[in-house]
Amino acid sequence: MSQETILELDLGPRSYALHIGSGLLAGLGERLRPKVKGGRVAVITNETVAPLYLEPVTCALRDSGFAVLPVILPDGESHKHWGTLQTIFDHLIEGRFERSDALLALGGGVIGDMTGFAAASYLRGVAFAQVPTTLLAQVDASVGGKTGINHRLGKNLIGAFHQPCLVLMDVETLRTLPERERLAGMAEVIKYGIIRDAGLFSLLEERLEAILALETATLTRVLRTCCAIKAEIVAADEREHGTRALLNLGHTFGHAIEALTGYDAWLHGEAVAAGMAVATRLAESLGLCDPADATRIRNLLTRAGLPVTIPARPVAEYLEAMSHDKKVASGKIRYVLPEGIGKASVQGEIPAAAVEAALAAAISC
Ligand code: NAD
Ligand code: GLY
Repeated sequence: MSQETILELDLGPRSYALHIGSGLLAGLGERLRPKVKGGRVAVITNETVAPLYLEPVTCALRDSGFAVLPVILPDGESHKHWGTLQTIFDHLIEGRFERSDALLALGGGVIGDMTGFAAASYLRGVAFAQVPTTLLAQVDASVGGKTGINHRLGKNLIGAFHQPCLVLMDVETLRTLPERERLAGMAEVIKYGIIRDAGLFSLLEERLEAILALETATLTRVLRTCCAIKAEIVAADEREHGTRALLNLGHTFGHAIEALTGYDAWLHGEAVAAGMAVATRLAESLGLCDPADATRIRNLLTRAGLPVTIPARPVAEYLEAMSHDKKVASGKIRYVLPEGIGKASVQGEIPAAAVEAALAAAISC
């Protein structure tokens, strides 16, 4: 029997529902039907996820009268680029997809970001739905309409804001996720605790093992809490002029790790975890974060099997990679820093020496 919570992401005429629960895939078609005028859905997925979930998703869509075009891409962050996007467009154009048809992202954040960007630009914009199947994509990437691809010089540098018409997350899909991917997803979960919700952070400290074991009730509660925080922040600041930047805690340092290591060595969530550890060191050194809170942050990341050190590369290489960050304004990097647990801020005037010291201290030996 399916159990479902529905949250609303309130963006006026572009509002949409986040369906969270277990056993929801079978009801996908009936939830999507009212959102799509046309009769066809291109299901964009990859060679890992397709054998697991393409069939039930296709059946659910066909049951509601949709014709389905499957598009199966290679797996991996290193494929999140123009070439793969072109493959999606080839299928849509050859399949004569029209403006009234829709795309559906079935997979993790890589598939979600590429599908969203394809939907934003194909025929100048078509509808798309998110069916995230990783923890990271369920708590973060599928919600809020950031879409895009990587560039050789930096992550997610090319893209668009394009909101989905529906997000449906079935926690049962997480049961096939490799352990390393589950842990990587926990980085973004912990992020919400640090930036916004001390109660969530304490719950994670108390129930970490149950969550990692995918204990349905606790996991669903955590997903609801994370999605509610994200929905509130995106509704208040869709285009990241202010508060939404807080969601990037750890990302400036994390994206630099990913760019320097070639996108496939570190998982995105691992890089974010290490980046949050660097940001915490920096905040501590500036007197913004109490050392006891900084220790709790490092301890929780470590208990979740996540890295708190960064690869041994010259600090100058990190600084160069970070200079391509999307939060750079007037040539200055703006850092998201924790001010203890449950609160963070964006800081624009951080002394370079403090950043260099935090990076040097976080470099693993
Ligand atoms: P991912 O999409 O690469 O998925 C991780 C791995 O798990 C892949 O190998 C995938 O094929 C596999 N997989 C997916 N679902 C599975 C399942 N149920 N069972 C077994 N295997 C499964 O990585 P991710 O961590 O989901 O997402 C990271 C990406 O998300 C990055 O590119 C990041 O930039 C992006 N992101 C975007 C946003 C946003 O707001 N748009 C937010 C956070 C992250
Ligand atoms: N993951 C950052 C954002 O959605 O803004």
